[in-house]
This record gives sequence, structure tokens and C-alpha cells, in this order.
Amino acid sequence: MDVKIAVVTCSDTRSMAEDTAGAALEALIAQAGWTCVSHVVVHDEVDEIADAIVRAADEEAADVVVTCGGTGLSLRDVTPEATMRVCDRNVAGIAEAMRAYSMTKTRRAMLSRALCMQRGRTLVVNFPGSRKAAIESWEGVADQFEHAVGMMAGLGH
Ligand code: MTE
Repeated sequence: MDVKIAVVTCSDTRSMAEDTAGAALEALIAQAGWTCVSHVVVHDEVDEIADAIVRAADEEAADVVVTCGGTGLSLRDVTPEATMRVCDRNVAGIAEAMRAYSMTKTRRAMLSRALCMQRGRTLVVNFPGSRKAAIESWEGVADQFEHAVGMMAGLGH
């Protein structure tokens, strides 16, 4: 089953060319046999991030929106707040699994406020922003994306 994934990198400093984390996610999506429907870089601003999530979910019909960055404790880190603004249901288990897996790599994983939530039939997953952290977070949860998308589409188990 194809899974349509949009990548939204949230960074005040990174340009598209410098977005090695987003590029790594694109490669992982292709490796899984899925489709990357879009990849954008937006500033660490709630409005910009929220708009990018809505566009990916409602216009591009992404099954999964992976955000990358802006989950830490700096006051500029607002990706979870943007996610909450445009999503309706919390999917705590995926964020818990991401942190549990990531804690086997670095104890700094507890410093990520990443959320996973649903906007209708789209799953929005916050990943931390470094290339290494994004790859490790993918490793921790991506195996459940296909089943999650099926459940959101009403296919049950
Ligand atoms: N998770 C994994 N798997 N690997 C990492 O290296 N880095 C942590 C954490 N999660 C890390 C990780 C660090 S150092 C921070 S500050 C937080 O993610 C938040 O990162 P962000 O602000 O780039 O989203």
C-alpha cells in the first residue's frame, strides 16, 4: 500500500538546500516504497507551520505529515503548538514510542516535546530537527504508518 507523506521542516535558519534532515526523510520515504508528495521549509512560526500542515493534509491529501524540528525547549520551538492548533485528536502512543526508541540512542530524547496527532484522516507526526534525530525517529515509528493510515481510512485491522 502506498503511503503519501509530506515533509514540513521547521527552522529559522535552514534553507531547502541545507535541509539535510528533510532530504534524509525523503530518501527513507522512497526506500519504504512510499510517495513524498511535498517537502517545504518554513520558519519557526506557529502560523507558517500550521498553514503548511493544513495545505499538506487538505490540499495534497497527505496520509502522513512529518514535521521536522522545533520540538525542543527554546521559546522559538513552536511545532507542537502549531500541530495542536490544526489537529483534533492526540495519538500519544506514536510520540511515546518515538521517545522510547530514541532514548536508546540518546537521553537527550526526553527534551523533545514532539506530538503525534490526527487532522481528520491525516496523521501529523513531529520529529526533532537534526538529521540524526530525524532518521532515528523514523526508525522508531515508521513501521506502523501503513496500519495507522488504513485505520484512519476505516479499514479496521
Ligand atoms: N531524538 C533522537 N532520536 N536523536 C537525537 O539526537 N536529540 C534531542 C531530542 N530528540 C535527539 C532526539 C535533542 S538534543 C533535542 S533538543 C530535542 O530532540 C528537540 O530537537 P528539535 O528542537 O530539533 O526538535
